[in-house]
Amino acid sequence: MHILVTGGAGYIGSHTCVALLEAGHEVTVLDNLCNSSAVALERVQEIAGKPLAFIHGDIRNPDDLDRALQGGADAVIHFAALKAVGESCEKPLAYFDNNIGGTIALLQAMERAGVRRLVFSSSATVYGEPDTVPVTEDAPLRATNPYGRTKLVMEQLIGDCCQAVPEMGAVLLRYFNPVGAHPSGRIGEDPAGIPNNLMPYIAQVAVGRRERLQVFGGDWPTPDGTGVRDYLHVMDLAEAHVRALEFGRDQAGARAINVGTGRGYSVLELVRAFEQASGKVVPYDVVGRRVGDVAELWAEPALAEALLGWRAQRGLATMCADAWRWQAGNPQGYDGP
Ligand code: NAD
Ligand code: UD1
Repeated sequence: MHILVTGGAGYIGSHTCVALLEAGHEVTVLDNLCNSSAVALERVQEIAGKPLAFIHGDIRNPDDLDRALQGGADAVIHFAALKAVGESCEKPLAYFDNNIGGTIALLQAMERAGVRRLVFSSSATVYGEPDTVPVTEDAPLRATNPYGRTKLVMEQLIGDCCQAVPEMGAVLLRYFNPVGAHPSGRIGEDPAGIPNNLMPYIAQVAVGRRERLQVFGGDWPTPDGTGVRDYLHVMDLAEAHVRALEFGRDQAGARAINVGTGRGYSVLELVRAFEQASGKVVPYDVVGRRVGDVAELWAEPALAEALLGWRAQRGLATMCADAWRWQAGNPQGYDGP
């Protein structure tokens, strides 16, 4: 298939492009590089040994979208979005404009081009603070911040379009906590500024870019008092997209599917696993809880197995080893020497 990948230069998008090229698909990336580097796409092509087409443009610009779709795409994978929870509280309008406005423009362009297949990057954030874990897809949906609200609204917009156009099909992949990197160490997560998320923060402490990790809360009702999450290798997640495209070929309507391992690890378990993988000490201080955090969150991934034939293959040690290979080889990310 020929796939348009919005946001394909980003963290998850770049790893997914490798998996798509390796599965034999043709790929066009549309990205404005607001949170990524074109170097990532050069490296994707180097790893896969195949070319992709890149359009430097914005999903809110209809001309850029028409250009990206003019080659006759069979499906779209839609990663392009802003994703920082804290920033979304400070600049909600920028998030509504980019994420919701961009998705509306994309759906309109797909309608113009007659493209009916979509795989959408949703997030476990749509479950807010869940009543029970593991979380199933039919759990109540609620947003606790503007970023989460954009994901919830985008899911609903896509669902409404599928209702209106019977031939349209969408797979809404609700990712839990993607971490790690391609095993080559050539592409990985390269957050701008101070990392918000745990794994890139730990990796930057281990490589000497930051002094100490702050552990947000040691008094959660969990076995060791620190928060528990469902960490998932980004290559497993990339492969879930390839499966979702195949499943989406004859799927009508919008279908939400959790993408997680079904097992949670605490902050301190992740720190220890990273120390083991890197041979580095990760000094930390336990500080107060972060606003908006929950004690524990992990997926019930049975639906992904039933519908996509997908389950996570890589464990925590591999996630840490691959994240470390990327961080050690690229201490300053893509902009480094
Ligand atoms: P990322 O920031 O690395 O990638 C997003 C990409 O989209 C970037 O390359 C950015 O330049 C591009 N982009 C943003 N706005 C754009 C626009 N208007 N036009 C064109 N390109 C634009 O983030 P990521 O971690 O790879 O996340 C990809 C998707 O997955 C996002 O939708 C995110 O919300 C979702 N998601 C991520 C996580 C996670 O933990 N990383 C978890 C759940 C869901
Ligand atoms: C974050 C996002 C969420 C998104 C999810 C998946 C926030 C508030 N939430 O959730 O919207 O869907 O990523 O990408 O940003 N931690 C520390 N120290 C740190 C960083 C994190 O102790 O410096 C802890 C957190 O309290 C949490 C765990 O590590 O218990 C994981 O945090 P993080 O990587 O930010 O992911 P989530 O909180 O699950």
